[in-house]
Amino acid sequence: MTDQNLAIIVLAAGQGTRMKSATPKVLHHLAGVPIVTHVLATARELDPAVVLTVVRHERDKVAEVVTAHLPSAVIIDQDETPGTGRAVEQAIDGLPADFGGEVLVLNGDVPLLDAETLRELVAHHRESGAAATVLSSVVPDPSGYGRIVRRADGGLDRIVEHKDATAAQRAIDEINAGVYVFGAGALRDQLANLSIANAQGEKYLTEVIELLRRAGSDVAAVPVGEPWKAEGINDRAQLAEAGARLNALIVRGWQLNGVTVQDPATTWIDLTVTLDNDVTILPGTQLKGATTVAKDAVIGPDTTLVDCEVGAGATVKRTDGTLAVIGAGASVGPFSYLRPGTVLSENGKIGTFVETKNAHIGLGSKVPHLSYVGDTTIGEGVNIGAGAITANYDDIDKHRTEIGDDVHTGAHNVFVAPVRIGDGAKIGAGAVIRKDVPAGALALSVAPQRNIEGWVEKNRPGTAAAEVAERARSAQKADDGSQRQDG
Ligand code: UD1
Ligand code: CA
Repeated sequence: MTDQNLAIIVLAAGQGTRMKSATPKVLHHLAGVPIVTHVLATARELDPAVVLTVVRHERDKVAEVVTAHLPSAVIIDQDETPGTGRAVEQAIDGLPADFGGEVLVLNGDVPLLDAETLRELVAHHRESGAAATVLSSVVPDPSGYGRIVRRADGGLDRIVEHKDATAAQRAIDEINAGVYVFGAGALRDQLANLSIANAQGEKYLTEVIELLRRAGSDVAAVPVGEPWKAEGINDRAQLAEAGARLNALIVRGWQLNGVTVQDPATTWIDLTVTLDNDVTILPGTQLKGATTVAKDAVIGPDTTLVDCEVGAGATVKRTDGTLAVIGAGASVGPFSYLRPGTVLSENGKIGTFVETKNAHIGLGSKVPHLSYVGDTTIGEGVNIGAGAITANYDDIDKHRTEIGDDVHTGAHNVFVAPVRIGDGAKIGAGAVIRKDVPAGALALSVAPQRNIEGWVEKNRPGTAAAEVAERARSAQKADDGSQRQDG
């Protein structure tokens, strides 16, 4: 049920300078999903009255991602005054003037916090009657974070940013997680009093804590149970750490759901992937985007699938696939490259060193070895010989190759598209097929073989080849002679 007394503000206006990136920090991906989307998903789970998201740097790009994930989110544009305090000051104007509930502020770059932790924080805040409750975390390396400065009695005194901290304060290992619950009225009152008298010349949201305490209100800092949940992402090393942490959780989640994952350390699964039970994932496998895998399929080792659909019982070994459909019971790999638009029907095969693109391969049909199949339709029960190439591109346009049912092609065929092979047709080895082949025909395009007897002995006299050839030919002659005598 919607908590009408809860408003959530997500801060996502910063550039993320330490990422050194053209992409805004909150749009970098974690488990296949933009960082800010993780925060929005958690916010959504709390079912608040409203989610306000503050944007500025690359405003349109960030707003688009926010709205795509949470269409009801209110987008707040931060002006040129920098700082998390200014961001919240502007966001709060987006709330109804009579909103008297709690405001939960979330940093858009702290993606691993779960809804349960936040629910507990809000409940704690409401029970305690404090004006502000901050989530803190005790971490092995607090550098870069705001430090939680406590009074002698253990109560929260204030938060000091790393850049403003004295050496003694920098030694504090309890940090501000960037998550706060405020009473709406108390927050409104103090935001108007923020200064910019700090090392960065910004309006710090953290200063609200000190202002509230000085005004005689209660403020509290509550340590999070598991410190990694509060880790912020400021640079790419932290991005990788958070990514590994989240991946470990995702892999474990699937294991507990009945998926065999042989080597969690080398298995990467996006948050957006769906797996049935009794799927087996072998080492070195990455499953990305909207990939789905049905029961009893075996994926890997060393396989990357992006936005692929794998049917029940299929095997996919040492393969790279994007936007491909692999039917139930089909077999792919090792060393296959499935490009977008590949549809391999049930019990079909795409084998070793085969590349496919926009290719529909019918029921039980096989492309087993060393082939390129692009812009092609293959019927049912077809076997494509080793080394087949569809020449689909004539320098100007792409053309289709259409192959009927129960066709057997020869080794090393080239199909110069557009071209059609009728049902049941056969094709000789090495043929270059430029014209349609009617149903049931045998197509040959290679000139009949001519053997010029004695050519090597005549043209390469004295070479090793000539010597062995001469020996072989006289042995053959003697053999022929004795056979004639016997007969
Ligand atoms: C902030 C906290 C710090 C805390 C840390 C936790 C302040 C002053 N400091 O520091 O105490 O330990 O988070 O991760 O709040 N943002 C805006 N508008 C701005 C600036 C930032 O919306 O003008 C957003 C950013 O996009 C980001 C979040 O606020 O999502 C935090 O900003 P960042 O610059 O990363 O703050 P930290 O220095 O990490
Ligand atoms: Ca940060």
